[in-house]
Amino acid sequence: MREKFHHLSRRCVMGMVGGVMLLVSTMAYSAAILEGERMSPVQGKEGMVVTSHFLATQSAQDVLKNGGNAIDAAVTAAFSLAVTQPRSGNIGGGGFMLISSEQNDEVVAIDYREKAPIKATVDMFLDKEGNADSQLSRYSHLAAGVPGTVAGLALALEKYGTISLKEAMAPAIKLAEEGFVVTPRFSDGLKQKEKMLAKWTSSAKIFYKPDGSFYEPGELFVQKDLAATLRRISEKGAKEFYEGQTAELLVAEMAKHGGLITMEDMKNYSPTMREPVHGTYRGHDIYSMSSPSSGGVHVVQILNILEGYPVSEYGHNSAQTIHLMAEAMKRAYADRSFYLGDEDFVKVPLKGLISKDYAAKIREGIDAKKATPSSTIVPGKPEPYESNETTHFSIIDKFGNAVSNTYTINFSYGSGIVVEGAGFLLNNEMDDFSAKPGVPNAYGLIGGEANKIEPNKRMLSSMSPTIVKNQGKNFLVTGSPGGSRIITTTLQVIMNVIDHGLNIQSAVAAPRIHHQWLPDELRIEEGLSGDTIKILQEKGHQVKQKTSMGAIQSIMVKDGIMYGGADPRRSTALAAGL
Ligand code: GLY
Repeated sequence: MREKFHHLSRRCVMGMVGGVMLLVSTMAYSAAILEGERMSPVQGKEGMVVTSHFLATQSAQDVLKNGGNAIDAAVTAAFSLAVTQPRSGNIGGGGFMLISSEQNDEVVAIDYREKAPIKATVDMFLDKEGNADSQLSRYSHLAAGVPGTVAGLALALEKYGTISLKEAMAPAIKLAEEGFVVTPRFSDGLKQKEKMLAKWTSSAKIFYKPDGSFYEPGELFVQKDLAATLRRISEKGAKEFYEGQTAELLVAEMAKHGGLITMEDMKNYSPTMREPVHGTYRGHDIYSMSSPSSGGVHVVQILNILEGYPVSEYGHNSAQTIHLMAEAMKRAYADRSFYLGDEDFVKVPLKGLISKDYAAKIREGIDAKKATPSSTIVPGKPEPYESNETTHFSIIDKFGNAVSNTYTINFSYGSGIVVEGAGFLLNNEMDDFSAKPGVPNAYGLIGGEANKIEPNKRMLSSMSPTIVKNQGKNFLVTGSPGGSRIITTTLQVIMNVIDHGLNIQSAVAAPRIHHQWLPDELRIEEGLSGDTIKILQEKGHQVKQKTSMGAIQSIMVKDGIMYGGADPRRSTALAAGL
């Protein structure tokens, strides 16, 4: 069966055409479950690509096949996703990329998060009564931060890649110019968001037919404006996006609709090399994203707290394991609300937050039998200073490089606004700032002074691209979309592998839980047993089953074999090995 599954998956790669591929992949997946086996990950010896869209996986896989490295493949995947998955793949947003090189024994991070425009002000989203206006921070031209994706990808390629930007962008340009076959997920997404997208003529003409009707599965979707934009960038370099015709189109869009981004903002944008957060968990090295993301800090902090408990003995998704995870999560998210912001503007007590001593102190306050109500939890005292739609992909090559990349335009389809004539969607990342201290953002996350709006500042993120190393070797490459749930989704895949010994496909597919301090609810996916839920309720948890969380595209390496786990929560996701 394992072989049959593998064989089917490879056939998917070869003959991928929209719905057909989906059907075959789903059949293979359910067959694996029905026959009572553990879910089998896809295998590779010379490389592995896992993305949320099979066409992006295929483009990146071709790069590896032709001798490119993981960074070349990552840049190709990112531009391909910008075409095939406009709800989150993007050139109008930003993100973070972690790159691990076994050869140089280093893990580096590229921060290409969006920045607030120069004209941004602390109270720009407050109405006359001083209340936060979420319409402005989410669905207007003011919602957009200065995009970082193009500069970030170009920097990655220039520093660590082996192919030219032109080569890396060629598959994306072809997909935009010649079109691709619409999948059910693509069609459904645009139907669901018609109200948000179709109110802008620039967006309506890209995503809906001239008579306003929908693109249906099996039809061809062509994006001429986007193709032209990508071609300009590929020929003239990232500078074109920031200083050329594309920048002019973006700035004209802003000027026409009261947005703030100017040519000066575009010209001044630059991505930044950051040191990733580094922690350890049961003998493994954890590398994840540092400020302006809160992701890495809190993945490591929660792991530190849980390291003090015999989690594997308690068992995977047992009530006791979930109870302790929820208690650790609550305390980390309380800290997030107070301490985290862009470290170029505020001092983040990083060392304190990720120290084992601080974790031990937090453990002292956790009752192993009873849930602590969130109302009694306040941000802790570490040692003093020294969206829901986002998309993640993981890639490993035969040269010992691993790339973990998460990028986003924040919501599904960002602000919903396409830049007229340029064919791409603008992010609504400004909503990730705290518009008003204490008022939750779209993910229910509370922020404080550290994450207030300031010109040129990067808004706080939860994105957690992560690479786990074992004795100097790349072991696990993972990360997820999901707004506030990104941190806990990533955490659980790490624990599922390290504590519970699940293979990567099972680790990715297993039901997940989430607690973010406020609201005081233990959110779960379907799949937990009734008696587990009952025990958690008896411990005092407010258990709420809601829709699925995250889409974690992951790779694990064991004994020289690369195993890919695509998240079944995204019907278009695909892992493909070499
Ligand atoms: N926009 C979601 C995040 O960056 O966390």
